[in-house]
Amino acid sequence: MISQHDLVLVVDFGAQYAQLIARRVRDAHVYSEIIGSEASVEEILARRPSAIILSGGPSSVYADDAPQVDPALFEAGIPVFGICYGFQAMAQALGGSVAKTGQREYGRTPLSIQNSGKLLATLPNTLNVWMSHGDSVSRAPEGFHVLARTAGAPVAAFECRMRKLAGVQWHPEVAHTQWGQQVLEHFLFHIAGLAPDWTPENMVSEAIADIRAQVGDSRVLCALSGGVDSAVAAALVQRAIGPQLTCVFVDHGLLREGEAKQVKEDFVEITGVDLVVADESERFLGALEGVSDPEEKRKIIGREFIRTFEAMAARLAGERGIDFLVQGTLYPDVVESGGGVGTANIKSHHNVGGLPEDLQFTLIEPLRTMFKDEVRAVGLQLGLPDSLVWRHPFPGPGLGIRIIGEVTAERLAVLRRADAIARRELANARKEREIWQFPVVLLADVRSVGVQGDGRTYGHPIVLRPVTSDDAMTADWAKLPWELLEKISTRITNECAEVNRVVLDITSKPPATIEWE
Ligand code: XMP
Repeated sequence: MISQHDLVLVVDFGAQYAQLIARRVRDAHVYSEIIGSEASVEEILARRPSAIILSGGPSSVYADDAPQVDPALFEAGIPVFGICYGFQAMAQALGGSVAKTGQREYGRTPLSIQNSGKLLATLPNTLNVWMSHGDSVSRAPEGFHVLARTAGAPVAAFECRMRKLAGVQWHPEVAHTQWGQQVLEHFLFHIAGLAPDWTPENMVSEAIADIRAQVGDSRVLCALSGGVDSAVAAALVQRAIGPQLTCVFVDHGLLREGEAKQVKEDFVEITGVDLVVADESERFLGALEGVSDPEEKRKIIGREFIRTFEAMAARLAGERGIDFLVQGTLYPDVVESGGGVGTANIKSHHNVGGLPEDLQFTLIEPLRTMFKDEVRAVGLQLGLPDSLVWRHPFPGPGLGIRIIGEVTAERLAVLRRADAIARRELANARKEREIWQFPVVLLADVRSVGVQGDGRTYGHPIVLRPVTSDDAMTADWAKLPWELLEKISTRITNECAEVNRVVLDITSKPPATIEWE
């Protein structure tokens, strides 16, 4: 169904910016996907793109192993926009020159526009753009107009209207570049002539049509976790095939205050989904008895989750059987797993709270083409409440990995209370959307001396770990207002038995991780 849309293919030359470019294109309501630079021109054209963007990349066009652009790409009549390395590779492939000027430019750089053309129309004559380059285009290919320059780049932007080709040396996709989104949109709408038709309404109606076509009258199962992705995926499938869907929610007893209720009651009420709940808190707590090691906890929680889910699936399948399983896979997961770029296994989280690969189901992945912000837009479009759609990410093993030490019912009660206070105060201060996640951690194996009332106490510390991040790969500690932190601290020590000290984690990731375990 997506093939009805204009598709912008971002050719990834190994920059960390390729996903960002695709997201910015989608912000302009044009559908975009990423393809590796090793793809041949035939493979690229087989995807029938309406336009192509060549991303930046770490190479110099002079390096032996530099990824090349086949000049045939520019002969297909498809509009192409080159960014940074993509701009230089384009210049070189079309007969322009790229020189080692010896003058590198990194970060904020003043740009002056000599001739705005279509690409830079309506922009001021001078602006700041974000640069990261060593080589520079020294001569534009024949038929191209040079539009702008910087101190280190005599040709910082060019376009050839007749062939619908354009490029810039800077990074229009990063937030620090002024007028970046406008430049991208000028390419998409004024040079390539595309239509902005990738909207939440269309995403919903097309996903629904796709699901109906895939499923027919078969039965479908979905594991709800309480997180945004599985909730939106389930709501979409429910909208598409209604009673053929059964959702399973394994309550492992490690959720935060109000979350199990939100899934069990609120989600069902809003979506009308057929939900089966397995209340297995005691079983999980029993299995975790005496265990303090974080990886051991993850393994146990993962194992118990799969056992419970499989037993329920077998029971629900009955004689008719169930063919399909809904997964909340997002587009960045698809790009990263297809990209073949190895990442070190820092924590085993990717398979915890998830399902084993050998389950006998065909997968339905209705969010497979979406970025997180699009999933949220679709959730709102489906009528899911803000509290669910804007929920911070929460790890599969839940509060089990936010108690440093053994997990017990008493400790869970303390942490759940402290966490609820932090979340409530954050919401009252309207700071929820400014931060990525706010783990609250109980150092159950640490005691410190305090004084409360007239007496000496020997209680446990609570750690506040608010972070900002774009994707959880890196993160910074969030600079929340002192007054807010003070209020959270005072309420926690007043209202949580056993806690006499609240500390703030001011470490970024790296070197720390977001979670403490
Ligand atoms: P770290 O702590 O590695 O976390 O910086 C990065 C992101 O992953 C989440 N996380 C998990 N998610 N199961 C999950 O489903 C896990 O075991 C797990 N451990 C960490 C974490 O909350 C953050 O969003």
